[in-house]
Amino acid sequence: MIPLTPEIALCAIEEQDGEALRALMRRIYPPAYAHYWEDAGRSYLDSQYNQQQFLKDCKQENAGYYFLCQGSEKVGIFRWVGGLPLGAMEGAFLKIHRLYLAPEIQGQGIGKLLMRWAEQLAREQKYSVLWLDVMNKQPQAFEFYKSLGYQYYTHCELNFEKLYKDYRTMSQLYKRIT
Ligand SMILES: CC(C)(COP(=O)(O)OP(=O)(O)OC[C@H]1O[C@@H](n2cnc3c(N)ncnc32)[C@H](O)[C@@H]1OP(=O)(O)O)[C@@H](O)C(=O)NCCC(=O)NCCS
Repeated sequence: MIPLTPEIALCAIEEQDGEALRALMRRIYPPAYAHYWEDAGRSYLDSQYNQQQFLKDCKQENAGYYFLCQGSEKVGIFRWVGGLPLGAMEGAFLKIHRLYLAPEIQGQGIGKLLMRWAEQLAREQKYSVLWLDVMNKQPQAFEFYKSLGYQYYTHCELNFEKLYKDYRTMSQLYKRIT
């Protein structure tokens, strides 16, 4: 367990946690993203968190996968992956792959603490660039990363069938660390 605040800690996600992860994501994904999707995001959640994909994510080398825990409650997830390049950029890369906080713990500085922890991890492991994907029409997340010093690199259009056309743009943001 890695404490972030006196109340909130990172707890490693293990291979037996697939159903708990899916239950948590069914609770915390829709408040932020249901309006992006014709099916409120159900097909997306299934594509990302089905048992086969989950076990693949768990087994991935050079990666970390955590619940945010508040006592015995699960209130978020965080995943990082080392070694995924960002376009043709030079550097040693750590990607922030997933970061979702439950609505009741948003806006209290916990995301910021978590991203500082990730930067520290990146420094210790000799990475030089952190990067991530963010949906353009999610100002909460976009402003959050901008406030932490992340910069625009490029963007792309997602092609999930049930994703509304107006919500398909996703940007890649990065931050060099020293
Ligand atoms: C985006 C998210 C990770 C941010 O974490 P958080 O703990 O809520 O954010 P913090 O309280 O640490 O905020 C840090 C800074 O981000 C910015 N910020 C946070 N929420 C914001 C909002 N709703 N609108 C504008 N800026 C915001 C502010 O600059 C804030 O600094 P300030 O409090 O000094 O003004 C979290 O709200 C979340 O999980 N949202 C839903 C899921 C999601 O979109 N995840 C990101 C996927 S890429």
